[in-house]
Amino acid sequence: MMELQDKTILLGVCGGVAAYKAAILLRDMRRAGARVRVVMTESATRFITPLTFQALSGEAVYTCLWDDRIPNGMPHIELSRGVDAILVASATADFLARMAAGRAEDLLSTLTLARNAPLFVAPAMNRQMWEHPATRRNVGLLLGDGVCFFGPAFGEQACGDEGEGRMLEPAEILESLIAALTPKRLLGKKVLLTAGPTFEAIDPVRGITNLSSGRMGYALARAAMQAGAEVSLISGPVELAAPYGACVTRVTSALEMRDAVLKDAPTADLFIAVAAVADYRVEKAVSQKHKKESGKPPDFKLVANPDILAEVAALAHAPFCVGFAAESENLEKFAEEKRKRKKIPLIVGNLVQDGLGGKTNRVTLFSEHGRYPIPPGDKNIIARRLIEHIADLLEKTDAGTGRRKNS
Ligand code: C5P
Repeated sequence: MMELQDKTILLGVCGGVAAYKAAILLRDMRRAGARVRVVMTESATRFITPLTFQALSGEAVYTCLWDDRIPNGMPHIELSRGVDAILVASATADFLARMAAGRAEDLLSTLTLARNAPLFVAPAMNRQMWEHPATRRNVGLLLGDGVCFFGPAFGEQACGDEGEGRMLEPAEILESLIAALTPKRLLGKKVLLTAGPTFEAIDPVRGITNLSSGRMGYALARAAMQAGAEVSLISGPVELAAPYGACVTRVTSALEMRDAVLKDAPTADLFIAVAAVADYRVEKAVSQKHKKESGKPPDFKLVANPDILAEVAALAHAPFCVGFAAESENLEKFAEEKRKRKKIPLIVGNLVQDGLGGKTNRVTLFSEHGRYPIPPGDKNIIARRLIEHIADLLEKTDAGTGRRKNS
């Protein structure tokens, strides 16, 4: 994923056990395309060495206000200029206190005062320190000053306690940062998505399913969250981590997926049907495992599953509906036919050999305005492009509500 391409982030690291996780965060930010400059407090260097961050960032690491590697002698100004965001992870109770008081006694605290970029902090501390009235006061002051907090989370702590104060995981911090830097084009919108395959049981161990990985649907859910939407993701059986902040309902069969979708569809502004729903299910799954010793192959009848997308598109107050068409040939013809048959404004077409089950894809959008190819690449990047395109289309419908009246 390259969601942070062209972004420069200043990563501040304070002295706490969670400092080691900042190295993983740095690696993940680099993978997302960011340039990262690291500034550490003196105490952070007791937990992890500057060399680790230097190797991972490919840049010099700074710890000291009096660093003579900065020619003009003003590292706090020099380092905080030209960055898109300052992210302090991990942020200790002491660092929050110093920022709340506006102190400028080391390089990191001084540059957070001298900044002209947004400041994000991911606190990490013992739960009693986090709950202490002094920390609560400092957090209140910092929120009032426009500082944005990522976490902390509730959970097991290095000291053996359990409670709130644990730093968010690096992947969650990265997602929060990407979201914070993404324009909020879907703010106030409810987005409902389906993702993954469905599984239609034959007996307690066997069933009919397909090769869908769920990655495209999860990437779209994530991109919609980052664009400010409230997201409900109805997921078939996949092993992917839930997009941070999304409401995820896990289902197995097409009928379960349909029930979950129809519950949320009446209040959704946008429905993106990414799931590869099985067209047929076994009419009566048997409760005992079929035995090959019976000498006969299993005998079952297939019946058609409901078309979830077409049902949602036909609702009295249908959300803006987006479908997917995975074809093995004649993509343009089949995708257009599908769009018209399901009566939906937009369909995303791809050849199964380009995307099914993999991390990358090549898609073309088909709408009443014509066809629009998206450059091939990582599904996360394609998802962001797609959300941009959908936001453009939503702005053109019903004063941006996305809703259409089916009479
Ligand atoms: O009809 P077909 O499966 O080719 O259409 C694909 C599109 O329709 C996808 O967006 C898929 O999520 C949706 N679909 C559905 N319910 C089905 C079959 C497909 O929502 N039973």
